[in-house]
Amino acid sequence: MKHLLTTKELSREEAELILDVTEQMAEAVTGREVPKLPALRGRTVVNLFFEDSTRTRTSFETAAKRLSADVVNFAAKTSSVNKGESLRDTALTLQAMGADAVVIRHPAAGAPQRLTEWIEGAVLNAGDGTHAHPTQALLDAYTMKKRLGGVEGRTVAIVGDILHSRVARSNIWLLSKLGAHVRLVGPPTLLPKDIDDWPVEIGYDLDASLKGVDAVMMLRVQRERQNAAFFPTANEYARLYGLDERRLALMPDHAIVMHPGPMNRGMEIAAAVADSPRATITEQVTNGVWVRMAVLYLLLTNGESK
Ligand code: CP
Repeated sequence: MKHLLTTKELSREEAELILDVTEQMAEAVTGREVPKLPALRGRTVVNLFFEDSTRTRTSFETAAKRLSADVVNFAAKTSSVNKGESLRDTALTLQAMGADAVVIRHPAAGAPQRLTEWIEGAVLNAGDGTHAHPTQALLDAYTMKKRLGGVEGRTVAIVGDILHSRVARSNIWLLSKLGAHVRLVGPPTLLPKDIDDWPVEIGYDLDASLKGVDAVMMLRVQRERQNAAFFPTANEYARLYGLDERRLALMPDHAIVMHPGPMNRGMEIAAAVADSPRATITEQVTNGVWVRMAVLYLLLTNGESK
């Protein structure tokens, strides 16, 4: 593995290795007075973000620092991208500065793949358009492993704006590879059209789709990517596809509620559900740091030093 671009291209063995090393990272750092390992001392990780982020950017930064790497944060909004500099020239500049790994978030699907053609270091996709967000899916799988005891054989409903969701796409490929059953639930207008070859069941009725689930993953309605009216009103959407306390009661007692964040409280998820003990939303954020430590470590050392 030289780069991490999508979960679709990960083998099951590679995905399981990442989840095993994630566990080791969590164990190695938790409870330490100084929560740092020397594994990436002398390496430079660049965070190259062309889209807004709270969780992913800070999580990658924290992960790299916990592995003792030097971190450079590059925000497109305050860079020479604003003066017209291309992605290629930006990449060549980072290459000239000796970046060992570049973590990129970009609104265009495929931008991380293009970056691999211009730089020698590892490229980690932190979200490209509606295409992929592999570390989010890995942290989601790790959270299920911790909360549900595993992923194999579990049933996961992914609910809402599937059409615009890179989180959904990355989860579909990873979860199915790890042996989970995936149900997609949402209004027909927010389900992609060409998904006959996706390893999923489709449902339009949320109440019915919650029966027998082990986890439900609520997706944010991505208004910023929507160029048409996909549903009549926010109230109508919440009524049909929002997870509220009544619907939570339809789920088996052990089932967990996940959300990648950021959330639209009161729309896809009621505040009382987001704050309930069955929600794993803040655990997902914590687990994201361990997953990103594992991925940086594996890509930059081939698993050879710790
Ligand atoms: N889940 C996620 O990608 O969040 P951010 O957009 O805040 O990084």
